[in-house]
Amino acid sequence: SDIQKGNFEWSAPSNIALVKYWGKKDNQIPANPSVSFTLNNCKTITKLAFEKKDTSASLSVSTSLNATAKDFSFDLLFEGKSKEDFKPKIQKFLERIEVYLPFLKQYHFTIDTQNTFPHSSGIASSASGMAALAMNFMSLEKALNPEMTDDYFFQKASFLARLGSGSACRSVKGKVVVWGNQANIEGSSDLFGVEFPYAIHDNFKNYQDTILLVDKGEKQVSSTVGHDLMHNHPYAERRFAQAHENLDQLIAIFKSGNLDEFIKVVESEALTLHAMMMTSMPYYILMKPNTLQIINAIWKFRNETQIPVCFTLDAGANVHVLYPENVSEKVLQFIQDELVVFCQNGQYICDKIGDGAIAL
Ligand code: PMV
Repeated sequence: SDIQKGNFEWSAPSNIALVKYWGKKDNQIPANPSVSFTLNNCKTITKLAFEKKDTSASLSVSTSLNATAKDFSFDLLFEGKSKEDFKPKIQKFLERIEVYLPFLKQYHFTIDTQNTFPHSSGIASSASGMAALAMNFMSLEKALNPEMTDDYFFQKASFLARLGSGSACRSVKGKVVVWGNQANIEGSSDLFGVEFPYAIHDNFKNYQDTILLVDKGEKQVSSTVGHDLMHNHPYAERRFAQAHENLDQLIAIFKSGNLDEFIKVVESEALTLHAMMMTSMPYYILMKPNTLQIINAIWKFRNETQIPVCFTLDAGANVHVLYPENVSEKVLQFIQDELVVFCQNGQYICDKIGDGAIAL
């Protein structure tokens, strides 16, 4: 462990859940398994510069030695500017992962991060952000312990990302990632995300996700609070069981390529997520009028054209429009003609299934 200084850089994508993670136990253990498409264009790019703290100078003065070894030391830049308000989140992340990366306090870090999507777009950057940071810390761990395998590297990166933000553990790999124990998915774990290990039909190849930005404001209720409200929630146990059932159905759907069945599971999951919010105590609503306008327009378009386009939602008002690549042209025309009016400033982001984090 004699690496003095250097830097790494990783990009990690966002992901969109098909079966939703909503509710957790201690240590970011999910209450139910989830599965997501890894995205391609919505990414966080993070550079980690590290330099070993000068402990030799402080050896003679034991108090300052304690001071240097006692605390995490890092600077944070967001899009080139120092960003103090993100620091507590990073501090908390470092505290959680230190036991797994015991060298952290020996270094001073400069974390320089940027997103490919507009900030305050209502697109959560916590998944891509925490994944990108976890990848960088793993690169340092690998530099210190070069013998580790690639499998170990990515698995531990996902494990660490989970401790930053649960859904971030699904942003390390592509294209379809499962997180959480599911008896009939080999290798699935509550501790990290794994690539979906079975056949995926060509209907899902290059699956498209166009993200309609309905409301770019900060949401009134954070995901952390939302997860917490699943404790003592009247429908929690049924909901957690349903997630297992829906994931089970998706295994068959990924194999068969049955898009009608895919749509049923995915839209039901999105509405159930929001139903959990509406039936918690306190109750709340994150959808906006335009969210419902879009959903109704998608249903009408699908009925009239038989084009297999559907929606899903995150914990927010934005709508993810999902469709196979071969109907892209027609769906994009429909989005421009009928859905853009419901987007804030007419904004939307074209994305699709991607391959996970990459070293730059
Ligand atoms: O990763 P968190 O704690 O921000 O939770 C995200 C939960 C949802 O995005 C609503 C669903 C999911 O599985 O990504």
